Amino acid sequence: MNVVTHIHELKELIQQHQRKQHSIGFVPTMGFLHEGHLTLAKEARDHNDIVVMSIFVNPLQFGPNEDFESYPRDMNRDQRLAEEAGVDILFTPDVKEMYQGEPSITMTVQKRADVLCGKKRPGHFDGVVTVLTKLFHLIEPTKVYFGLKDAQQVAVIEALIQDFFFDLHLVAVPTVREADGLAKSSRNVYLSERERQEAPALYKALKQGEVAVEKGERDPKRIYQLIEKELLQTSGEIDYIDIYSYPELEPLQHLTGKVILAVAVKFSKARLIDNVIFHVPESGEKLV
Ligand code: PAJ
Repeated sequence: MNVVTHIHELKELIQQHQRKQHSIGFVPTMGFLHEGHLTLAKEARDHNDIVVMSIFVNPLQFGPNEDFESYPRDMNRDQRLAEEAGVDILFTPDVKEMYQGEPSITMTVQKRADVLCGKKRPGHFDGVVTVLTKLFHLIEPTKVYFGLKDAQQVAVIEALIQDFFFDLHLVAVPTVREADGLAKSSRNVYLSERERQEAPALYKALKQGEVAVEKGERDPKRIYQLIEKELLQTSGEIDYIDIYSYPELEPLQHLTGKVILAVAVKFSKARLIDNVIFHVPESGEKLV
């Protein structure tokens, strides 16, 4: 595995592979790798000639009161895990390499960003699309891999790729979970023992919502109440419970089509998010 920190080194390696017409699978991350990230890397490994992973804690997507400084980092461990997962090129730039001085041009996401996490984190998705635009240009991947754990991120990136004619294919990978259902996350290390025991309630609540829809419930208010009841049993503070069409992220009066149920809960030192996405059949249509 090649570990590179500078853009010129990265470009050189990418050009070598382009000359050989290799397909490039790209997995962008902020590091502190866990099974979720590694599943993306393995998917990329299975379907491309080479795999590029980036590890970059992107300051532009963190708000002033968020955890940029304290975001967990462990580069030695990450390098070992990336290599084991079959990554060929690990790109680990520092902030100066990615943001060379004051920007002349900034990007603003207009759709799909003012709900869910975007509503609570103004400017977050502007930072995400800015860094991904830079990374997509540098790596010129054939396929890019993102986790559905961050389903809003997937919806925004889908729009980025369409609007800017990026010639690449987005692969959305299902959320990787612990045995008890908790979605794997770099931030899970911040949960106290008690909170860790309570945290599977997020997925449990979402599944209860999904089951209610399967049984015929179509009123988003009823689904909201079911999810809320389950989450109120934790010591966490409910940040949001939302139900939208997916990937448009528009409100629904009556559940139909592809739907996302999404929650965020604030525990003492970590804010956890989770979601389920499923197709709601028209009445009379068979469930898939
Ligand atoms: P990060 O939070 O490190 O996540 C990197 C990728 O791993 C994202 O696509 C995320 O959805 C995926 N991922 C995280 N946990 C997962 C899980 N439990 N199951 C499946 N996939 C999971 O998301 C970011 O970094 C950044 O916003 C980034 C896209 C790198 C831009 O800075």
